[in-house]
Amino acid sequence: MLLNTVSGLRVLFVGGKGGVGKTTVASTLAVARALEGARVLVVSTDPAHNLGHLWEREVGDAPVRLATFDAPAEGSSPGHVDGLEIDPRATLDRHLRSVGETMRRMLPERMRPHAERHLELAREAPGSFESAVLERIAEAAELGEDEYDLIVFDTAPSGHTLRLLALPGQLTAWTETLLRNRDRSERFSAAMQAIAVPGAEDSRQLADAELRRTLLRRRDRFERLRATVTDAERTGFLLVFTPERMPVAETLELAESLSVLGVPLRALIANRRSPADAGELLAGRRTVEAAQLDRVASALPDVPLCELPLVPGELAGRNALEAFARRMG
Ligand SMILES: Nc1ncnc2c1ncn2[C@@H]1O[C@H](COP(=O)(O)OP(=O)(O)O)[C@@H](O)[C@H]1O
Ligand SMILES: [Mg+2]
Repeated sequence: MLLNTVSGLRVLFVGGKGGVGKTTVASTLAVARALEGARVLVVSTDPAHNLGHLWEREVGDAPVRLATFDAPAEGSSPGHVDGLEIDPRATLDRHLRSVGETMRRMLPERMRPHAERHLELAREAPGSFESAVLERIAEAAELGEDEYDLIVFDTAPSGHTLRLLALPGQLTAWTETLLRNRDRSERFSAAMQAIAVPGAEDSRQLADAELRRTLLRRRDRFERLRATVTDAERTGFLLVFTPERMPVAETLELAESLSVLGVPLRALIANRRSPADAGELLAGRRTVEAAQLDRVASALPDVPLCELPLVPGELAGRNALEAFARRMG
């Protein structure tokens, strides 16, 4: 049922609380699609990465091949799963380095120490990490369009992801304001400069044009991400939870927040569902879980509710994930 629900989508976000099985579900969905011949990228945005751990492999800030699968039929192409763990610090360093280079190229010598200080402060500013991660998510989503059939974002626990999802809109608005303010002050300061230093206007205008281009590029990128995130034809947000009282309460709150952000919820996934036929203890758990699932179904009647079973063994490594994917159906 889960596979049908998400078939045809190009971008998946897997969200939920810590420890509920986000990385497991993200990887299993990736494997299921790769078994059908798709090229899939799993991107972990969770600062507490465990993608590498789950695959028993080193995964870093650039895509690595986690698994390849035989072509599903004669004449079709083989599928694969690549993985990437976003490193916010490396992303921020890279970003600040490139801004620094531009500044060094454009600013007069005497301004440079001031600019360097400004960059150091930017590194510690609130929101710097989030916007660096968001930029990297946007970059990965764009990469996904050409090189992958599906990109699965294994996201950070609830609140963090919501803040990120709210950011493209905020950052777009912020860039707009910045551009508007620049337009206003630009004319004035250009005029002043031209009076003070004849001939300086040209280089200033060049610098302004480059800054404007950078800001516009960033704004467009965030706008595209926002469009991707809210496009129900292409993108689906999946919420994973364990069918217990507290996680369910939090899941319902999260679903509400997503709807406020205009992010369509594609499916709810109750993970670690206890079996009915494995003893009294688990059968008892199963009854308790059923009541919680009813609660979810009546609160969100239009969202498909899927179940994934609790498995006895360690769910790690390619073979375990493949077996789980084959069971998922
Ligand atoms: N259906 C399941 N049955 C058994 N163990 C599971 C199941 N789903 C996840 N796990 C285990 O639970 C732990 C947490 O899962 P993980 O996917 O890392 O959660 P998250 O990414 O949400 O923090 C892992 O050790 C994983 O192997
Ligand atoms: Mg995880």
